[in-house]
Amino acid sequence: MFKWANLFGKKKAEKEFYSPDKSIKCLLELKSGQLFYSVYKNDKRIVKPSRLGFLICGETPLVDDLIIIREQKKRHEENIELPWGEERYIKNNYNESTFYLSEEKEQRRIFTLRFRVFNNAVAFRYEIPPQPKFRQITIKDELTEFNVDLNSIAWKIPAYQPDRYEYNYEKTMVHQLKKSVHTPLTLKTPTGYYLAIHEAALYNYGSATIKLDQNNILKTDITPLSDGTKAHVLLPFQTPWRLLMIANSAIELTTNRVMYALNEPPVSDFSWVKTLKFIGIWWAMFVGEWTWAPGERHGATTEHAKEYIDAAVRLGIAGLLIEGWNEGWEGDWLENGIHNKFTVSTPDFDLDEVSRYAKNNNIEIVGHHETVGFVDNYEKQLEEAYNYYAARGVHYIKTGYAGSTMMINGRREFHHSQLGVNHYQKTVELAAKKHICLDIHEPIKGTGIERTWPNILSREGARGQEYEGGALSPSHACYLPYTRLLAGGMDYTSGILDLANSVKRMATTLSRQLAYFVTIYSGMQMAADRPFIYEHRFPDEFHFIRDVPTNFNITLPLAGEIGEYYVVARQDRNSKDWYIGGVTDENGRRIHINLDFLEQGSIYEASIYADAENAHYRENPFAIVKQNKKVGYTDSLDLYMAPGGGFAIKLKFKD
Ligand code: NOJ
Repeated sequence: MFKWANLFGKKKAEKEFYSPDKSIKCLLELKSGQLFYSVYKNDKRIVKPSRLGFLICGETPLVDDLIIIREQKKRHEENIELPWGEERYIKNNYNESTFYLSEEKEQRRIFTLRFRVFNNAVAFRYEIPPQPKFRQITIKDELTEFNVDLNSIAWKIPAYQPDRYEYNYEKTMVHQLKKSVHTPLTLKTPTGYYLAIHEAALYNYGSATIKLDQNNILKTDITPLSDGTKAHVLLPFQTPWRLLMIANSAIELTTNRVMYALNEPPVSDFSWVKTLKFIGIWWAMFVGEWTWAPGERHGATTEHAKEYIDAAVRLGIAGLLIEGWNEGWEGDWLENGIHNKFTVSTPDFDLDEVSRYAKNNNIEIVGHHETVGFVDNYEKQLEEAYNYYAARGVHYIKTGYAGSTMMINGRREFHHSQLGVNHYQKTVELAAKKHICLDIHEPIKGTGIERTWPNILSREGARGQEYEGGALSPSHACYLPYTRLLAGGMDYTSGILDLANSVKRMATTLSRQLAYFVTIYSGMQMAADRPFIYEHRFPDEFHFIRDVPTNFNITLPLAGEIGEYYVVARQDRNSKDWYIGGVTDENGRRIHINLDFLEQGSIYEASIYADAENAHYRENPFAIVKQNKKVGYTDSLDLYMAPGGGFAIKLKFKD
């Protein structure tokens, strides 16, 4: 039996600390042996006193009489340059207050609580140093609360479900969050502030989900291991940052980059990392033309791969994903994945030949490892599997963990448990060693570790377009920017233009598929439809897909409301060109855009792809209006988004 301990103090203390612009105040209180924090925005309390601390399983109990033995304050101002992403520079400006805490009597164990208050966020983490009789601990529970108003609105997806993060977002009230939900958890307070509860720098620990506790207060619910505990850690140990993003509007929330600022700089030189746009031997499987498994309609044959490489060259796309190339897809691959081989091709696929052909044509191969969650099987082959690709000049791998849980050390574990988190990290570090970039499907959520490991170019981690054909509503992509995308880029598999396919009918208009390349950022961006669709049916629309960058300088959200619509402008990292994308839910909408963010006195050639007045995602999805015109910073544009529609605009800098 474990004994329980509670890291709390008895002495009374009150400490106030502020954001650099003083708009956010934090209050730390030590009351009858317990630690609480609260948060104020413009003098309005947005987080009521919320408990902090842990329950720890141990041989000897911890005493809960904490005192603050030292407090340290620090001001930090820094501009961080990110190698790729939505933004070139982000601010890392905060006031830090560090509280060194100790038990007053008994064993005098110590730990540290580090707070950082930004102008748009509050973050804190626990740090536990090694101590003579306190070297290895098992976390029974983390008690961190976010005591927000129960009448706040919440936009949530459920946690601990078989499809991991792949659920439709639902609008609800905080007082209804009886079951755990994932972070980022986006909230709107009755006073009108927008908050998102998330975490940063998740390493070697269970991922935080959130739910109401028995006192009706929102509390972190760390994803458990199969033994029922939350994490086994060696000291020193620090938890991920608990992060509360704070904004005045939904659109402002989408610009919050504090998650990255809370992560460490890159561990080594990552100048070899390059963002990528790619096509794939992929959608043909989803619409039933080809199969992953070998047979008459096998997709990943040497011949098909070469044809797709030729198509990529003609289309001006730099990469090709090849799925279904290895042993393990026969029969029910979801069931049989335990036998997947990551260094053995199917008889009709020759990676040596295909990779040579790709190299000669200057095309990057995106390799594929579908583990089906059989982590034990994958880890046995890991080094060999990465060497196999690296030796053939493959610099990108899409990994996948389909399956409701993972098999780790012979036991079923959640993807977002400590063991799951550690497995993903192992792949990231090994890939970095081999100069390989990753696009992780069925991933652990993003917590900004891309700053430290820029070779994580993308993740899935939400419902993507493979759910089209009935399970995606037009509002889904209008929730993502305010929820999932606060955790970083997403491989949404955009650009499926064969909208009326009888197997997978898309719930979008044509121009909306182009808009996704702007509204949903991904460092590895897939042009997901089959190449013949681009070449023969939509060559003009494809120009937009070809040109839109995968690396931006500035991101400027222009308008939007959660689950209703989203309009964003982004400037290319490598030129002065701008791109604008807009998406709407089931309701048509007119949008007026001032172009005053363009360079003063310069001319831009605008290529506009917008819904026609009679377009509709169900009845008339292909109705598109294309227009080219010259514009400048004093101009504005009036655009129409049809029900389930959107628009995409390229603004090419002329002079
Ligand atoms: C689910 C992934 O999201 C999808 O992209 C992939 O094709 C299948 N698993 C098979 O690996």
